[in-house]
Amino acid sequence: MDIVFFETLESTQTFLLEKLQEDLCVVALKQTNGIGSRGNSWEGVESGLYFSFCLHQKKLPNDLKLQSASLFFGFLFKEVLNEKGFEIWLKWPNDLYLRDKKVGGVIVSCKQDKVVCGIGLNFKSSSFGSLGAELHKKEILEVFFKKIKNTSQWKQVFRKYKLEFCKNSDFSFHYQEQMISLKDVKLLEDGSICYSGKIFYSLR
Ligand code: BTN
Repeated sequence: MDIVFFETLESTQTFLLEKLQEDLCVVALKQTNGIGSRGNSWEGVESGLYFSFCLHQKKLPNDLKLQSASLFFGFLFKEVLNEKGFEIWLKWPNDLYLRDKKVGGVIVSCKQDKVVCGIGLNFKSSSFGSLGAELHKKEILEVFFKKIKNTSQWKQVFRKYKLEFCKNSDFSFHYQEQMISLKDVKLLEDGSICYSGKIFYSLR
């Protein structure tokens, strides 16, 4: 993966969705129009890591449903942070949490036969949840991309994710205008959840 740093971009995600260059990761020190999931905007903080990368779909595990790609990438990124000593957990479907505070998030977009994943992580912030520490960006990214490369099956990730899924039980997720409590859902093997007979994927 080539990693390219920019001082300022509107959004690493929209930039890469336009370029669609495989095996490229773009990092911006500052985004002027960052995007979040469900049409929200993503606000930059005093210091953080904002990046997007593009992979061909054929490089993803063949047992991974594309709709669960944010869980796949989010979980592997979370593991990198755990290895650095931060007790981050992944709230279903795409939020990085430290205890009860969101400190980052994952977004995945599919275009043609490529997948563009964007991740934002707050290092330091006076108004939002954050890690409370600055990490070496290039080092974190290299460890993360190595992990992706070495993970050939979704079920390797799922096996671990399901053990941690109970951490979601005090939280909810948005569905249309509704908030659904995650203690009332069942996690299914493909990363979707089942609530009241309905199946929900992270990519909706
Ligand atoms: C969410 O929690 O809603 C997902 C947030 C994803 C934010 C990241 S920051 C880097 C990349 N560029 C963007 O514009 N968005 C993602």
